[in-house]
Amino acid sequence: MWDDQRHQDVNEPPEAVVIDGIAELTTNDEANGGRIRDAALVVEGDRIAWVGPSRAAPPADRRVDLAGRAVLPGWVDSHTHMVFAGDRTAEFEARMAGEPYAAGGINVTVQATRAASEADLEANIERLVAEARRGGTTTIETKTGYGLTLTDEVRAARLAGRYVDAVTFLGAHVVPAGADPDEYVALVAGPMLDAVAPFVAAVDVFCEVGAFDEAATRRILDVARARGMARRLHGNQLGHGPGAQLAVEYGALSVDHLGFLTDDDVAALASSWAGARRGTVATVLPACDLSTRMPLAPARRLLDAGAVVAIASNCNPGTSFTTSMAFSVATAVLQMGLTVQEAVRAATLGGAIALGMDEEGWLDPRGAAQPAVGVVGPGRRADFQVLDAPSVTHLAYRPGVPLTSAVWRSGIREV
Ligand code: NIG
Repeated sequence: MWDDQRHQDVNEPPEAVVIDGIAELTTNDEANGGRIRDAALVVEGDRIAWVGPSRAAPPADRRVDLAGRAVLPGWVDSHTHMVFAGDRTAEFEARMAGEPYAAGGINVTVQATRAASEADLEANIERLVAEARRGGTTTIETKTGYGLTLTDEVRAARLAGRYVDAVTFLGAHVVPAGADPDEYVALVAGPMLDAVAPFVAAVDVFCEVGAFDEAATRRILDVARARGMARRLHGNQLGHGPGAQLAVEYGALSVDHLGFLTDDDVAALASSWAGARRGTVATVLPACDLSTRMPLAPARRLLDAGAVVAIASNCNPGTSFTTSMAFSVATAVLQMGLTVQEAVRAATLGGAIALGMDEEGWLDPRGAAQPAVGVVGPGRRADFQVLDAPSVTHLAYRPGVPLTSAVWRSGIREV
Protein backbone atom coordinates (compact mmCIF):
# COMPACT_ATOMS: atom_id res chain seq x y z
CA MET A 1 0.00 0.00 0.00
CA TRP A 2 1.24 3.47 -0.92
CA ASP A 3 1.37 6.25 1.75
CA ASP A 4 0.74 9.54 -0.07
CA GLN A 5 2.01 11.70 2.76
CA ARG A 6 5.29 9.85 3.21
CA HIS A 7 5.71 9.10 -0.51
CA GLN A 8 6.63 5.51 0.15
CA ASP A 9 5.31 1.96 0.22
CA VAL A 10 4.19 1.11 3.76
CA ASN A 11 5.57 -2.41 3.35
CA GLU A 12 9.08 -1.00 2.91
CA PRO A 13 11.07 -0.04 6.06
CA PRO A 14 10.52 3.70 6.70
CA GLU A 15 13.03 6.08 5.18
CA ALA A 16 15.62 7.34 7.71
CA VAL A 17 16.14 11.11 7.47
CA VAL A 18 19.03 12.73 9.32
CA ILE A 19 18.47 16.36 10.27
CA ASP A 20 21.95 17.78 10.72
CA GLY A 21 23.62 21.15 11.25
CA ILE A 22 21.57 21.90 14.40
CA ALA A 23 23.36 24.59 16.43
CA GLU A 24 21.25 23.91 19.53
CA LEU A 25 18.81 21.02 20.01
CA THR A 26 16.40 21.40 22.92
CA THR A 27 15.37 17.85 23.81
CA ASN A 28 13.65 18.11 27.24
CA ASP A 29 15.35 14.75 27.85
CA GLU A 30 17.18 14.21 31.15
CA ALA A 31 19.39 11.67 29.37
CA ASN A 32 21.30 14.50 27.65
CA GLY A 33 20.70 17.36 30.06
CA GLY A 34 17.82 18.69 27.98
CA ARG A 35 19.99 20.31 25.34
CA ILE A 36 22.67 19.24 22.84
CA ARG A 37 24.86 21.70 20.93
CA ASP A 38 26.10 20.94 17.37
CA ALA A 39 23.53 18.21 17.14
CA ALA A 40 21.74 15.95 14.69
CA LEU A 41 18.60 13.84 14.90
CA VAL A 42 17.20 10.98 12.87
CA VAL A 43 13.54 10.58 11.94
CA GLU A 44 12.18 7.16 10.95
CA GLY A 45 8.51 6.93 10.09
CA ASP A 46 6.50 8.91 12.63
CA ARG A 47 9.16 8.68 15.37
CA ILE A 48 12.53 10.05 16.38
CA ALA A 49 15.06 7.23 16.02
CA TRP A 50 18.20 8.92 17.34
CA VAL A 51 19.53 12.20 18.74
CA GLY A 52 23.13 13.12 19.53
CA PRO A 53 26.16 15.14 18.53
CA SER A 54 26.44 15.82 14.84
CA ARG A 55 29.83 14.09 14.58
CA ALA A 56 28.23 10.80 15.72
CA ALA A 57 25.19 10.91 13.40
CA PRO A 58 24.48 7.50 11.82
CA PRO A 59 24.14 7.05 8.06
CA ALA A 60 20.64 7.71 6.67
CA ASP A 61 18.68 7.59 3.41
CA ARG A 62 18.39 11.38 3.24
CA ARG A 63 20.13 14.34 4.87
CA VAL A 64 18.73 17.78 5.66
CA ASP A 65 21.28 20.46 6.63
CA LEU A 66 19.91 23.17 8.92
CA ALA A 67 23.06 25.29 8.66
CA GLY A 68 23.30 26.35 12.30
CA ARG A 69 19.62 26.75 13.25
CA ALA A 70 17.98 25.77 16.56
CA VAL A 71 15.55 22.86 16.87
CA LEU A 72 13.09 22.34 19.71
CA PRO A 73 9.97 20.23 20.32
CA GLY A 74 6.78 21.42 18.65
CA TRP A 75 4.61 23.49 21.00
CA VAL A 76 2.00 21.50 22.92
CA ASP A 77 -0.93 23.88 23.33
CA SER A 78 -2.91 22.33 26.18
CA HIS A 79 -5.68 24.95 26.50
CA THR A 80 -7.71 26.40 23.61
CA HIS A 81 -11.38 27.04 22.74
CA MET A 82 -11.37 26.78 18.93
CA VAL A 83 -14.95 25.71 18.22
CA PHE A 84 -16.79 28.99 17.85
CA ALA A 85 -18.33 31.46 15.45
CA GLY A 86 -18.88 35.20 15.63
CA ASP A 87 -16.79 38.18 16.56
CA ARG A 88 -16.07 40.02 19.83
CA THR A 89 -13.88 42.84 18.60
CA ALA A 90 -16.22 45.41 20.16
CA GLU A 91 -15.91 43.74 23.57
CA PHE A 92 -12.11 43.84 23.26
CA GLU A 93 -12.21 47.52 22.29
CA ALA A 94 -14.41 48.31 25.28
CA ARG A 95 -12.00 46.44 27.54
CA MET A 96 -9.03 48.37 26.22
CA ALA A 97 -11.05 51.53 26.98
CA GLY A 98 -11.37 50.45 30.62
CA GLU A 99 -14.32 48.01 30.87
CA PRO A 100 -13.50 44.92 32.97
CA TYR A 101 -13.68 41.39 31.50
CA ALA A 102 -16.84 39.54 32.54
CA ALA A 103 -17.65 35.91 31.78
CA GLY A 104 -21.03 37.05 30.39
CA GLY A 105 -19.39 37.68 26.99
CA ILE A 106 -19.28 33.90 26.55
CA ASN A 107 -23.04 33.93 25.83
CA VAL A 108 -22.45 36.24 22.83
CA THR A 109 -20.26 33.56 21.27
CA VAL A 110 -22.76 30.86 22.28
CA GLN A 111 -25.50 32.53 20.23
CA ALA A 112 -23.25 32.86 17.17
CA THR A 113 -21.93 29.30 17.49
CA ARG A 114 -25.40 27.75 17.74
CA ALA A 115 -26.46 29.68 14.64
CA ALA A 116 -23.40 28.66 12.58
CA SER A 117 -23.38 25.82 10.07
CA GLU A 118 -21.10 22.81 10.57
CA ALA A 119 -19.16 23.90 7.50
CA ASP A 120 -18.52 27.36 8.98
CA LEU A 121 -17.44 25.93 12.35
CA GLU A 122 -15.11 23.47 10.66
CA ALA A 123 -13.63 26.16 8.45
CA ASN A 124 -12.86 28.25 11.55
CA ILE A 125 -11.21 25.36 13.43
CA GLU A 126 -9.21 24.40 10.34
CA ARG A 127 -8.00 27.99 9.88
CA LEU A 128 -6.92 28.29 13.53
CA VAL A 129 -5.18 24.90 13.54
CA ALA A 130 -3.29 25.86 10.36
CA GLU A 131 -2.31 29.20 11.92
CA ALA A 132 -1.08 27.41 15.07
CA ARG A 133 0.87 24.92 12.97
CA ARG A 134 2.68 27.71 11.10
CA GLY A 135 3.67 29.06 14.51
CA GLY A 136 5.26 25.75 15.57
CA THR A 137 2.38 24.06 17.42
CA THR A 138 2.23 20.31 16.80
CA THR A 139 -0.24 19.20 19.49
CA ILE A 140 -3.51 20.98 20.27
CA GLU A 141 -6.21 20.47 22.87
CA THR A 142 -9.50 22.27 22.41
CA LYS A 143 -12.67 22.57 24.43
CA THR A 144 -16.37 22.59 23.71
CA GLY A 145 -18.27 25.22 25.70
CA TYR A 146 -19.88 27.55 23.19
CA GLY A 147 -22.81 25.22 22.47
CA LEU A 148 -24.30 24.63 25.93
CA THR A 149 -27.18 22.45 24.72
CA LEU A 150 -26.79 18.69 24.43
CA THR A 151 -26.95 18.83 20.64
CA ASP A 152 -24.59 21.78 20.28
CA GLU A 153 -22.00 20.39 22.70
CA VAL A 154 -21.96 17.03 20.91
CA ARG A 155 -21.60 18.83 17.58
CA ALA A 156 -18.66 20.86 18.90
CA ALA A 157 -16.88 17.78 20.29
CA ARG A 158 -17.46 15.76 17.12
CA LEU A 159 -16.19 18.49 14.78
CA ALA A 160 -13.17 19.36 16.95
CA GLY A 161 -12.05 15.73 16.99
CA ARG A 162 -11.42 15.92 13.25
CA TYR A 163 -8.73 18.58 13.65
CA VAL A 164 -7.08 18.46 17.09
CA ASP A 165 -5.30 15.93 19.27
CA ALA A 166 -7.58 16.09 22.33
CA VAL A 167 -11.08 17.40 22.98
CA THR A 168 -12.26 18.48 26.45
CA PHE A 169 -15.93 18.76 27.44
CA LEU A 170 -16.69 22.24 28.86
CA GLY A 171 -20.48 22.16 29.08
CA ALA A 172 -19.86 23.91 32.42
CA HIS A 173 -18.53 27.09 30.79
CA VAL A 174 -21.38 29.39 31.90
CA VAL A 175 -25.04 28.83 32.65
CA PRO A 176 -26.66 29.65 29.30
CA ALA A 177 -28.93 32.68 29.15
CA GLY A 178 -32.41 31.86 30.48
CA ALA A 179 -31.47 28.48 32.04
CA ASP A 180 -32.01 27.56 35.69
CA PRO A 181 -28.54 27.05 37.26
CA ASP A 182 -29.44 23.88 39.19
CA GLU A 183 -31.21 22.26 36.28
CA TYR A 184 -28.32 23.19 33.98
CA VAL A 185 -25.72 21.55 36.25
CA ALA A 186 -27.91 18.41 36.36
CA LEU A 187 -28.04 18.42 32.54
CA VAL A 188 -24.25 18.84 32.24
CA ALA A 189 -23.44 16.11 34.78
CA GLY A 190 -26.12 13.77 33.36
CA PRO A 191 -27.43 13.52 29.80
CA MET A 192 -24.94 15.97 28.27
CA LEU A 193 -21.93 14.15 29.69
CA ASP A 194 -23.39 10.81 28.57
CA ALA A 195 -23.84 12.09 25.03
CA VAL A 196 -20.47 13.80 24.68
CA ALA A 197 -18.34 11.14 26.45
CA PRO A 198 -17.46 9.13 23.31
CA PHE A 199 -15.88 12.22 21.74
CA VAL A 200 -13.85 13.71 24.62
CA ALA A 201 -10.73 12.93 26.66
CA ALA A 202 -11.56 15.04 29.75
CA VAL A 203 -14.17 17.09 31.58
CA ASP A 204 -13.56 20.74 32.53
CA VAL A 205 -15.46 23.27 34.68
CA PHE A 206 -15.10 27.07 34.78
CA CYS A 207 -15.02 27.39 38.59
CA GLU A 208 -15.42 31.11 39.14
CA VAL A 209 -17.81 33.76 40.44
CA GLY A 210 -20.26 34.34 37.56
CA ALA A 211 -19.77 30.80 36.25
CA PHE A 212 -19.88 27.71 38.55
CA ASP A 213 -19.42 27.77 42.34
CA GLU A 214 -17.72 25.13 44.44
CA ALA A 215 -20.87 23.03 44.99
CA ALA A 216 -21.69 22.93 41.26
CA THR A 217 -18.07 22.19 40.38
CA ARG A 218 -18.02 19.27 42.82
CA ARG A 219 -21.25 17.85 41.38
CA ILE A 220 -19.72 17.71 37.91
CA LEU A 221 -16.27 16.52 39.02
CA ASP A 222 -17.85 13.77 41.18
CA VAL A 223 -19.59 12.35 38.12
CA ALA A 224 -16.48 12.67 35.92
CA ARG A 225 -14.36 10.88 38.53
CA ALA A 226 -16.95 8.14 39.06
CA ARG A 227 -16.95 7.51 35.30
CA GLY A 228 -13.14 7.35 35.25
CA MET A 229 -12.87 10.44 33.05
CA ALA A 230 -9.89 12.81 33.30
CA ARG A 231 -10.64 16.14 34.99
CA ARG A 232 -9.33 19.65 34.47
CA LEU A 233 -10.45 23.05 35.77
CA HIS A 234 -10.48 26.73 34.91
CA GLY A 235 -9.69 28.32 38.27
CA ASN A 236 -8.54 31.46 40.07
CA GLN A 237 -8.86 33.58 36.92
CA LEU A 238 -11.00 36.56 37.94
CA GLY A 239 -10.39 36.46 41.68
CA HIS A 240 -9.36 34.08 44.42
CA GLY A 241 -11.52 30.94 44.54
CA PRO A 242 -11.47 27.22 45.34
CA GLY A 243 -10.39 26.09 41.83
CA ALA A 244 -6.73 25.28 42.49
CA GLN A 245 -7.47 23.34 45.70
CA LEU A 246 -10.38 21.46 44.11
CA ALA A 247 -8.22 20.50 41.15
CA VAL A 248 -5.65 18.92 43.47
CA GLU A 249 -8.33 17.22 45.59
CA TYR A 250 -9.96 15.68 42.52
CA GLY A 251 -6.66 14.61 40.94
CA ALA A 252 -7.22 16.87 37.93
CA LEU A 253 -4.63 16.73 35.16
CA SER A 254 -4.40 20.51 35.25
CA VAL A 255 -5.85 23.71 36.63
CA ASP A 256 -5.59 26.65 34.27
CA HIS A 257 -5.41 30.49 34.58
CA LEU A 258 -4.24 30.95 38.23
CA GLY A 259 -3.87 34.73 38.42
CA PHE A 260 -5.01 34.73 42.07
CA LEU A 261 -3.18 32.18 44.24
CA THR A 262 -2.45 32.10 47.96
CA ASP A 263 0.69 30.49 49.34
CA ASP A 264 -1.49 27.51 50.35
CA ASP A 265 -2.69 27.09 46.75
CA VAL A 266 0.89 27.17 45.46
CA ALA A 267 1.94 24.65 48.12
CA ALA A 268 -0.99 22.34 47.27
CA LEU A 269 -0.12 22.39 43.56
CA ALA A 270 3.56 21.70 44.32
CA SER A 271 2.91 18.92 46.82
CA SER A 272 0.54 17.17 44.41
CA TRP A 273 3.80 15.96 42.77
CA ALA A 274 5.42 14.73 46.00
CA GLY A 275 7.10 11.33 45.82
CA ALA A 276 6.28 9.38 42.70
CA ARG A 277 2.75 10.80 42.44
CA ARG A 278 1.46 12.29 39.23
CA GLY A 279 -0.05 15.60 40.29
CA THR A 280 -1.96 18.55 38.88
CA VAL A 281 -0.18 20.76 36.33
CA ALA A 282 -0.44 24.52 36.92
CA THR A 283 -1.21 25.93 33.46
CA VAL A 284 -0.55 29.62 32.96
CA LEU A 285 -2.04 31.60 30.06
CA PRO A 286 0.09 34.73 29.63
CA ALA A 287 -1.68 36.04 26.50
CA CYS A 288 -5.02 35.85 28.30
CA ASP A 289 -3.68 37.69 31.36
CA LEU A 290 -2.51 40.51 29.08
CA SER A 291 -5.68 40.63 26.96
CA THR A 292 -7.93 40.80 30.04
CA ARG A 293 -5.57 43.14 31.91
CA MET A 294 -5.63 40.76 34.87
CA PRO A 295 -2.65 39.94 37.10
CA LEU A 296 -0.09 37.65 35.52
CA ALA A 297 -0.15 34.14 36.99
CA PRO A 298 2.77 33.63 39.40
CA ALA A 299 4.67 31.16 37.24
CA ARG A 300 8.00 31.96 38.94
CA ARG A 301 6.55 31.27 42.41
CA LEU A 302 4.97 28.05 41.18
CA LEU A 303 8.22 26.74 39.70
CA ASP A 304 10.25 27.78 42.74
CA ALA A 305 7.81 25.88 44.97
CA GLY A 306 8.24 22.72 42.88
CA ALA A 307 5.01 22.79 40.86
CA VAL A 308 4.89 21.50 37.29
CA VAL A 309 3.98 24.44 35.03
CA ALA A 310 2.54 24.47 31.51
CA ILE A 311 2.12 27.47 29.21
CA ALA A 312 -0.80 27.51 26.75
CA SER A 313 -2.31 30.06 24.35
CA ASN A 314 -5.96 29.87 25.52
CA CYS A 315 -6.95 30.76 21.97
CA ASN A 316 -10.59 31.92 22.16
CA PRO A 317 -12.60 34.88 20.85
CA GLY A 318 -13.13 36.52 24.26
CA THR A 319 -10.02 36.60 26.41
CA SER A 320 -7.10 35.55 24.20
CA PHE A 321 -7.58 35.61 20.45
CA THR A 322 -4.15 34.28 19.55
CA THR A 323 -2.72 30.88 18.65
CA SER A 324 0.82 32.14 19.24
CA MET A 325 2.74 29.97 21.67
CA ALA A 326 5.90 31.94 20.81
CA PHE A 327 4.20 35.12 22.08
CA SER A 328 3.10 33.26 25.23
CA VAL A 329 6.65 32.01 25.81
CA ALA A 330 8.18 35.45 25.25
CA THR A 331 5.67 36.97 27.70
CA ALA A 332 6.41 34.28 30.30
CA VAL A 333 10.08 35.17 30.05
CA LEU A 334 9.82 38.96 29.84
CA GLN A 335 6.97 39.48 32.30
CA MET A 336 6.67 36.38 34.50
CA GLY A 337 10.33 35.89 35.33
CA LEU A 338 10.94 32.51 33.71
CA THR A 339 14.18 31.70 31.94
CA VAL A 340 13.80 30.94 28.24
CA GLN A 341 14.58 27.27 28.89
CA GLU A 342 11.92 27.06 31.62
CA ALA A 343 9.32 28.70 29.40
CA VAL A 344 10.12 26.49 26.41
CA ARG A 345 9.87 23.40 28.59
CA ALA A 346 6.52 24.57 30.03
CA ALA A 347 5.13 25.17 26.51
CA THR A 348 6.22 21.75 25.25
CA LEU A 349 6.74 19.01 27.85
CA GLY A 350 4.61 20.90 30.42
CA GLY A 351 1.66 20.91 28.01
CA ALA A 352 2.22 17.24 27.20
CA ILE A 353 2.10 16.33 30.90
CA ALA A 354 -1.04 18.45 31.35
CA LEU A 355 -2.70 16.39 28.62
CA GLY A 356 -1.33 12.99 29.67
CA MET A 357 0.50 12.83 26.34
CA ASP A 358 4.00 12.54 27.75
CA GLU A 359 3.53 8.77 27.89
CA GLU A 360 3.41 6.26 25.04
CA GLY A 361 0.01 5.08 23.86
CA TRP A 362 -2.33 8.01 24.50
CA LEU A 363 -5.36 7.86 22.25
CA ASP A 364 -6.07 10.63 19.76
CA PRO A 365 -9.75 11.49 19.05
CA ARG A 366 -9.84 8.93 16.25
CA GLY A 367 -8.75 6.21 18.71
CA ALA A 368 -5.22 5.79 17.32
CA ALA A 369 -2.51 5.07 19.94
CA GLN A 370 0.16 7.76 19.70
CA PRO A 371 3.83 7.95 20.71
CA ALA A 372 4.66 10.37 23.56
CA VAL A 373 5.11 14.05 22.68
CA GLY A 374 6.96 16.96 24.32
CA VAL A 375 10.46 15.45 24.15
CA VAL A 376 12.78 15.12 21.15
CA GLY A 377 14.23 11.72 21.94
CA PRO A 378 14.31 8.14 20.65
CA GLY A 379 10.85 6.59 20.42
CA ARG A 380 9.00 9.91 20.77
CA ARG A 381 6.68 11.24 18.09
CA ALA A 382 8.77 13.12 15.53
CA ASP A 383 7.28 16.54 16.34
CA PHE A 384 9.74 19.40 16.25
CA GLN A 385 10.22 22.92 14.93
CA VAL A 386 13.18 24.70 13.39
CA LEU A 387 13.90 28.32 14.30
CA ASP A 388 15.46 30.80 11.94
CA ALA A 389 17.88 31.54 14.80
CA PRO A 390 20.77 29.73 16.46
CA SER A 391 19.15 29.38 19.89
CA VAL A 392 15.79 29.34 21.69
CA THR A 393 16.99 32.45 23.52
CA HIS A 394 15.94 34.39 20.41
CA LEU A 395 12.28 33.59 21.18
CA ALA A 396 12.42 36.21 23.96
CA TYR A 397 15.38 38.23 22.69
CA ARG A 398 13.48 38.95 19.44
CA PRO A 399 9.86 39.03 20.68
CA GLY A 400 7.15 39.32 18.06
CA VAL A 401 9.40 38.07 15.25
CA PRO A 402 8.02 34.89 13.61
CA LEU A 403 11.11 32.70 14.00
CA THR A 404 9.61 29.26 13.28
CA SER A 405 10.83 28.30 9.80
CA ALA A 406 9.88 24.60 9.56
CA VAL A 407 7.55 22.30 11.47
CA TRP A 408 7.68 18.49 11.46
CA ARG A 409 4.77 16.53 12.91
CA SER A 410 4.59 12.73 13.11
CA GLY A 411 7.71 12.59 10.92
CA ILE A 412 6.23 14.69 8.11
CA ARG A 413 7.31 18.23 7.32
CA GLU A 414 4.03 20.20 7.46
CA VAL A 415 5.39 23.76 7.32
O1 NIG B 1 -10.42 30.45 29.29
N1 NIG B 1 -12.45 31.48 31.38
C1 NIG B 1 -13.29 30.97 30.72
N2 NIG B 1 -13.24 30.69 29.42
C2 NIG B 1 -12.42 31.37 28.48
C3 NIG B 1 -13.02 32.67 28.09
C4 NIG B 1 -14.01 32.50 27.06
C5 NIG B 1 -14.70 33.73 26.56
O2 NIG B 1 -14.70 34.83 27.16
O3 NIG B 1 -15.28 33.54 25.50
C6 NIG B 1 -11.01 31.50 29.03
O4 NIG B 1 -10.50 32.60 29.22
